[in-house]
Amino acid sequence: MNKKSRSSVEMSDKSSRPELADKSANIANYDTVLLGFPIWWYVAPTIINTFLESYDFSGKKIVLFATSGGSGFGKTVEGLKGSVSADAQIIEGKILNGKLSENGLKAWVESL
Ligand SMILES: Cc1cc2nc3c(=O)[nH]c(=O)nc-3n(C[C@H](O)[C@H](O)[C@H](O)COP(=O)(O)O)c2cc1C
Repeated sequence: MNKKSRSSVEMSDKSSRPELADKSANIANYDTVLLGFPIWWYVAPTIINTFLESYDFSGKKIVLFATSGGSGFGKTVEGLKGSVSADAQIIEGKILNGKLSENGLKAWVESL
């Protein structure tokens, strides 16, 4: 499926779960996971649900960051909650549009 038709499916079907090309992330080794993606119609693309459903995030903190065309996170957290166990924490982190300062980003990551 090409990029355009894939995003069309994701836009019209929230239950679509595009496949991950790589399922070898070492999630078990981390307590906090930074998870980034572009905002698509005020939520994360559904491949992010696939990612969350592919690993055990129990007891972990998942901090979101995203790019967008100008909007905020919208219903992103709501759309991802069902893809992790109840004791995983999903935190609406930052929209990272435009020019970013390295020091600002470091300070943010260290504050998590
Ligand atoms: C299908 C689709 C839906 C989008 N929905 C939104 C949206 O709801 N709000 C927004 O601000 N930007 C939206 N955008 C813009 C993307 O968030 C933006 O292009 C992306 O974050 C920039 O990353 P890129 O340069 O990798 O495309 C959408 C883009 C696409 C392709």
